[in-house]
Amino acid sequence: MSKKGLGILISGRGSNMEAIIQAALSKQIDATVNVVISNKKNALGIDSAKSYGIKTFILEKKDYSSKKDYEEEISRILKDHSVDLVCLAGYMTLVGETLLASFNNKIINIHPSLLPAFKGLNAQKQALDYGVSYAGCSVHYVDQSMDGGALIMQDIVEVLDTDTEESLSKKILKKEHLLYPKAINLVLKKKS
Ligand code: GRF
Repeated sequence: MSKKGLGILISGRGSNMEAIIQAALSKQIDATVNVVISNKKNALGIDSAKSYGIKTFILEKKDYSSKKDYEEEISRILKDHSVDLVCLAGYMTLVGETLLASFNNKIINIHPSLLPAFKGLNAQKQALDYGVSYAGCSVHYVDQSMDGGALIMQDIVEVLDTDTEESLSKKILKKEHLLYPKAINLVLKKKS
């Protein structure tokens, strides 16, 4: 059977994207990264994806007359590149019904908290402000809610009294890079 194709959607740095690309290259996941799409033209991750020879696209919502048109274009590109599973990796916008419908149950996301706690922006700061002893990251299916779809995998980190938003974010990010490829493998196995 041919390898599954991944499409990655980003908005910025792309360190999770890179972790997925490396996991695919080292055969830790049985899939290829076929395309990377950014919704921000200056996303650092685009250069990084290009350096691996991966096809990249920049599509900004403002250039489309509606979210539907915008997501139809994303969907067309993903399908043209034989994408079976869409991985959001720091894609900083809510996925709309058009994209959800064309990749039904085939879109996943990583979030830097132990969901369902601390959804949305600045999850690490929310966790610190709340005073938790453990924080972490979650990979989940994407639905129409923000960070609300069914959980796939989670991992935890201990929060120390000395932790700052920066140090906690760093610790969680390290775990994210390990967790995301594992979760992708799990999803692909279920789907094959
Ligand atoms: C990560 O913390 C991810 O969990 C969140 O956005 C951040 C993206 O970082 N959704 P990067 O672009 O993958 O480096």
